Amino acid sequence: MSEGVWTAPGRVNLIGEHTDYNDGLVMPFALPLSIEVSADRGTPGRLRLSSANVPGQSVELRVEDLAPGRGPGGWSDYPAGVVWALREAGHPVTGADLHFESTLPTGAGLSSSAALEVATALALGDLFALDLDRTELALLCRRAENVYAGAPTGIMDQMASACCTDGHALLLDTRDLSCRQIPLDLTAHDLALLVIDTRVTHAHSQGEYGERRAGCEAAARLLGIPALRDLAPERLPAALERLPPALGPLVRHVVTENVRVERAADLLLTGAPEELGPILTEGHASLRDDFRVSCPELDLVVEAALAAGALGARMTGGGFGGSAIALVPGPRVRAVGDAVESAFARASYRPPEVRDAVAASGARRLS
Ligand code: GLA
Repeated sequence: MSEGVWTAPGRVNLIGEHTDYNDGLVMPFALPLSIEVSADRGTPGRLRLSSANVPGQSVELRVEDLAPGRGPGGWSDYPAGVVWALREAGHPVTGADLHFESTLPTGAGLSSSAALEVATALALGDLFALDLDRTELALLCRRAENVYAGAPTGIMDQMASACCTDGHALLLDTRDLSCRQIPLDLTAHDLALLVIDTRVTHAHSQGEYGERRAGCEAAARLLGIPALRDLAPERLPAALERLPPALGPLVRHVVTENVRVERAADLLLTGAPEELGPILTEGHASLRDDFRVSCPELDLVVEAALAAGALGARMTGGGFGGSAIALVPGPRVRAVGDAVESAFARASYRPPEVRDAVAASGARRLS
């Protein structure tokens, strides 16, 4: 018997990519695509996980046995990791029956793993009266992802799913986890933000992500600073002279990207979202050429969208596949979607999935 239903959304990141593990700035917003969980405390000692999206693949685990690297792998490692992380932090979670249902595609770079984690943590927090605030909850979810599931991600996705609010982007400082809600009402300006899923995921993406992260950390050590966040833009040219050729472009991306987040937030706050376009496109060039996390399919979305009248476009999320976003004047929405689809057909790529995104609510209890 379900004791309640909770939901957590996926996200797209408007700007601020590969900055979150460098103590930098990000600005994601929540999507109206989400994961719901019907939850109850079940049988003490047992964790039962099932999903309407993968019928016939229920998982039953002994709570005592949960340990990093010992899960069966796949989607169930994320909720199981949350139970492990909560217990490790001393929270008395004795067991649970969790049934998930998702409208959020997996592998699209829209944070389905963070949504699974946050929905689980929110449900267990209520069922066991854990009194977790949203930041603690996001940190526990990241621990589940980093340690239990073994993916070396930053904190953006979990904070976005937990803390975003309807009609706003979340300006998040990943150093102190302070948040500011930035109004994002594109429709009022006759603009749309398309989220275009390339439907490709490159097999090496996780290893490459870890390599970029290690490169950033090595550069910060060489520069004698705690994190790349601490390199002021005016000190970038001198820093680039001191760094080996492989690390310089990574640093240039992170430093310029943090500036782009600040510029983008200012434009939204002054009511000029139509001016965001060039910032998005610059961000893409930096991810493609300096950080080298794009791929031909993402580059093609950006190119085709811009040629068809998008004001700006860029890959979003970790890269190597997944989704891109395009800021488009209302009357050009159809033309931009069609142009991307035709370009993909000409290149013999799988048809992309084009969605019009609005900033939706963060995680919450539904019943
Ligand atoms: C993935 C990670 C995030 C962040 C982005 C890149 O989505 O989960 O923590 O690092 O990549 O900005």
